[in-house]
Amino acid sequence: MGARPTSIARNKQPTHPQEQLFDTHPEVSLDFDAVRQAARKKYARPFLILDTAIVREKARRFHAAMPRVRPHYAVKANPDPRVLKVLIEEGAGFEIASIAELDLLLSLGVPAAEVFYSNPVKSRDSIAYAAAKGVEWFVLDSVDELRRVHGVKSDAKLYLRVATPNIGSDWPLSGKFGAGAAETREIIATAAKLGADLAGVTFHVGSQCRNPENWRVGMEKARAVFDAMAKAGLKPRLLDIGGGFPVRHVRPIPSIEVIGNVVNEVLKAFPLEVQVIAEPGRYLVSDAGYFVCRVLGTAARASKRWLHLDAGLFGGIIETTEGLKYRIRTDRSGPDVTWNVAGPTCDSVDVILRDEPLPSDLQEGDFFYLRNAGAYTTAYASEFNGFPLPEVRIFESKR
Ligand SMILES: Cc1ncc(COP(=O)(O)O)c(C=O)c1O
Repeated sequence: MGARPTSIARNKQPTHPQEQLFDTHPEVSLDFDAVRQAARKKYARPFLILDTAIVREKARRFHAAMPRVRPHYAVKANPDPRVLKVLIEEGAGFEIASIAELDLLLSLGVPAAEVFYSNPVKSRDSIAYAAAKGVEWFVLDSVDELRRVHGVKSDAKLYLRVATPNIGSDWPLSGKFGAGAAETREIIATAAKLGADLAGVTFHVGSQCRNPENWRVGMEKARAVFDAMAKAGLKPRLLDIGGGFPVRHVRPIPSIEVIGNVVNEVLKAFPLEVQVIAEPGRYLVSDAGYFVCRVLGTAARASKRWLHLDAGLFGGIIETTEGLKYRIRTDRSGPDVTWNVAGPTCDSVDVILRDEPLPSDLQEGDFFYLRNAGAYTTAYASEFNGFPLPEVRIFESKR
């Protein structure tokens, strides 16, 4: 697999007009009236309500947009077994961060060979455990991890996570993981010397990525790394285009079809025998759910209005702190004024929004609805300060 591609579009300008970058497809979202009714009928604590029919729809739409790319769902986005079962039925593979996620998948009958261990730094014990259970593919982005995985499982299939731009992603991930050019060269040389099966390349464009060109850059980089690997005597045969596929919140997003056009075009530079996977998390589950919580009380402090909710940063609403903007709904219609919105804990970091325009007449007991919040909410929640974990209500509608 050493031949240089002829069709690679290096530095090529996007072929789609700018307006096509933005999602023109009908909105996918849970019916708001149904969410309201569910809250009024029974409310004991914050809850996520999620319709798996939407998860199915998203899995099918992803497949249609990129037929050559098999989605391996990032379990961390929402590890509820009922969600995982639906994705198993839809033919997805999986990506894990930990052996607890592996055990969960195995308990649901997922073959270990369909599970990719995509956490770039793993303990020796975790590697050994996963290897004993039958996991074959392990990611790395350092020589240290290469030696560790190879030391525990000398026939492991390894894939290299390379650094790639996260420009235009609402939740960037590139600051922590990904080998740069010099490390990549060193990792390839070390793998060749050890006789390790460094066989793939991956990257992550950043979560909620609104810039389709990031996939082009990542894939072109991967293509060049394939060539460097082949030159070193390795046998590259896996391309993993990571996660990052966006869902609609308040900012415009490129549709999965627009991203698919970019991916499918650059894929022509990869021989057909190359296995191609992606690791979507958010895309598959986010717009299947609403997160619902309630106003505990209000306060005025130093000329600011404060809204205190029964769920905050520690209760699952953490992504707002890095700039992710949910569409927020309430049952009030007063004119908007700015509020600081806090969670229920005594920790001063537990502020999920500052100067957010929301109805002036919000008060104790009112519901607070976060649209498209099925990903990275309940998965993050803790019982910090003694507050209960959110309830997870899952159903499958006939859509
Ligand atoms: C290695 C890896 N793959 C996939 C994902 C899923 O990303 P997203 O939910 O943006 O699709 C993540 C998210 O953090 C990740 O760390």
